[in-house]
Amino acid sequence: MNTQQLADIYVLAAFTKTALPFITESHWLYRKQHGAAPIFPIFLETLFRKELACICFFRGYLEEIGLKGFKDLDEKLDRLEKETIKYIRSRPNQEQREFSRFALTLMSALFAEEERWQPTGISLYRTFDRLDEVFELNYDADHGMKIETIDGGERLYEGAGVGVQSGYSTVLTALNHLQITGSSKFVDLGSGYGRVGLVVGLLRPDIHFVGYEYVPHRVQISAKTAERFEIQDHVKFQVQDLSLKDFSIPEAEIYYLYDPFSEETYSHVLHQLIDLSRRKPFVIVTKGNARKWLLDVAVREKWSRPLEYDSGNLCLFHTAGSNTFNV
Ligand SMILES: C[S@@+](CC[C@H](N)C(=O)[O-])C[C@H]1O[C@@H](n2cnc3c(N)ncnc32)[C@H](O)[C@@H]1O
Repeated sequence: MNTQQLADIYVLAAFTKTALPFITESHWLYRKQHGAAPIFPIFLETLFRKELACICFFRGYLEEIGLKGFKDLDEKLDRLEKETIKYIRSRPNQEQREFSRFALTLMSALFAEEERWQPTGISLYRTFDRLDEVFELNYDADHGMKIETIDGGERLYEGAGVGVQSGYSTVLTALNHLQITGSSKFVDLGSGYGRVGLVVGLLRPDIHFVGYEYVPHRVQISAKTAERFEIQDHVKFQVQDLSLKDFSIPEAEIYYLYDPFSEETYSHVLHQLIDLSRRKPFVIVTKGNARKWLLDVAVREKWSRPLEYDSGNLCLFHTAGSNTFNV
């Protein structure tokens, strides 16, 4: 079996695992709304025409086992997913890199499809988190972490683990919508364990990525994976406190911000981004609350309205453009 086939198995097993509770919840909702259970095959047919089209080959089997067979199937899929990851981790780095590339490409297509069915459709936000094992993102490294910050005010998210790393869906959806054509520079301001850079680096060798992060062990972990996957020439992670006044954010085409800073550091970093934007246009990608900080700036600086995805959880702020705010 080749790495592409393995990646297909992993992604489809993980997807189907998420599909099972989605089917159960949709079934429950139908009963609540109609006061009676739906005819199972007809009910399934609707879901398989929309959100579950990518696993259409599985419909007959799910029909056969019914909802009562889901628990057992969930355990089997979990095992399949685990064994696939375990196997690929035992293979040479080059195969692991190819596996990750194939998996990310398929995931990207599934996230694009997922977007069509929101806000009520299947949610794949945490579905593929096990890919972190291939990336060797060991969030336990935060345990016992003691890192002094200058004024103690930085937001370092000690021990928060996967919950404060961008979901694969966010990074891949951003990449889909950014539509970067030529060679570009991409800067992650507060890069955490490096998911953003690793995804960008694996899929886009033409993008030069730099991630700046305060916590040294997170940088070490992400840099080690970049090296293992031999993408270190275009993917760099650097220990850097972005609140320091003697550090200047470099010019880039794309900046990425996911809730990184204390109020003071935000103000310092945003001032620099504003200065940079007056020299040449770029895009700022925000995830989560970073959007709020950028909205004020965008109005003041007459940037374009942000393009919003996932109910505003992901935004793209173009510093130049025709669709500006009216103030
Ligand atoms: C919410 S995490 C986001 C991680 C990554 N960008 C992602 O999206 O997966 C924010 C990161 O910013 C880092 N950070 C906070 N203050 C910082 C500072 N002053 N300089 C550099 N990094 C900082 C934190 O340590 C944390 O890892």
